[in-house]
Amino acid sequence: MREAIIKVKDLHVSYSQTKALSGVNMTVYDKEFLGIIGPNGGGKTTLVKAIIGLISQESGEVFIRDKEVIGYVPQLTTFDREFPITVEEVILIGHLPRKIGFFRKFSNHEKNHVKHVMKRLDIEKLANRQIGELSGGQMQRVLITRALMNHPTVLILDEPTAGVDELAKQDIYSMLKELNIDITIIMITHDTSILMDYLDRVIYINKRAHIHEQGNQSPIEGECCPIEWFIQGEEIQRDFLKEDL
Ligand SMILES: Nc1ncnc2c1ncn2[C@@H]1O[C@H](COP(=O)(O)OP(=O)(O)OP(=O)(O)O)[C@@H](O)[C@H]1O
Ligand SMILES: [Mg+2]
Repeated sequence: MREAIIKVKDLHVSYSQTKALSGVNMTVYDKEFLGIIGPNGGGKTTLVKAIIGLISQESGEVFIRDKEVIGYVPQLTTFDREFPITVEEVILIGHLPRKIGFFRKFSNHEKNHVKHVMKRLDIEKLANRQIGELSGGQMQRVLITRALMNHPTVLILDEPTAGVDELAKQDIYSMLKELNIDITIIMITHDTSILMDYLDRVIYINKRAHIHEQGNQSPIEGECCPIEWFIQGEEIQRDFLKEDL
């Protein structure tokens, strides 16, 4: 049985008028590759932001095991890419100390780590490019590289393959699968076609969480239903949801 590293209990989050999450319960297990799926506006981004502590919850609890370090790849908007900054600078920002407020230079050790990860993700040639000049797939790799700078034990990615072509998608997924040997991966995605090959479990979020486990060695008890329910049409999803909402 894998150890639980993150637990979310009865989480409620609202933005002024909108109830984004309503009583979400979920557990994340050590070294799993967890997918989060669901409709636009279903609360996926809100959920991961609440886990990281970027937004405050109305009620409920989020527990994160003490030794976990979280790396975060935010959902990309076109606005972000207009910011005039080079690839190398974006990545180095991932190295800033957690406690800000004092000036410090990047050490050789940190610079070497940057080089090592850029090489691993095959983007070292892009170091001096402006981020606005990158393709979607290149940009995602840059953001993943940045998220890896602090040696995370958990990597959370919000739609890392949005706007990325099929080939680059496969590339990003197999890279994540390799990283998954050492670290837990939580990935929000709309890309249900390749789910089967890469993910250990899927959670469907539409204000509430519904859990699907793949494989026989299920690390959890709880709600379980065939993955086809998620990847087939909307209708099946709605029938399924009716029971619980
Ligand atoms: N900063 C905000 N202020 C007000 N409402 C917000 C804010 N962020 C999100 N919402 C609302 O909260 C709900 C959940 O949004 P969220 O971004 O978490 O959904 P999502 O599942 O990530 O959607 P998508 O698949 O489109 O990325 C939506 O109704 C959205 O309009
Ligand atoms: Mg989102």
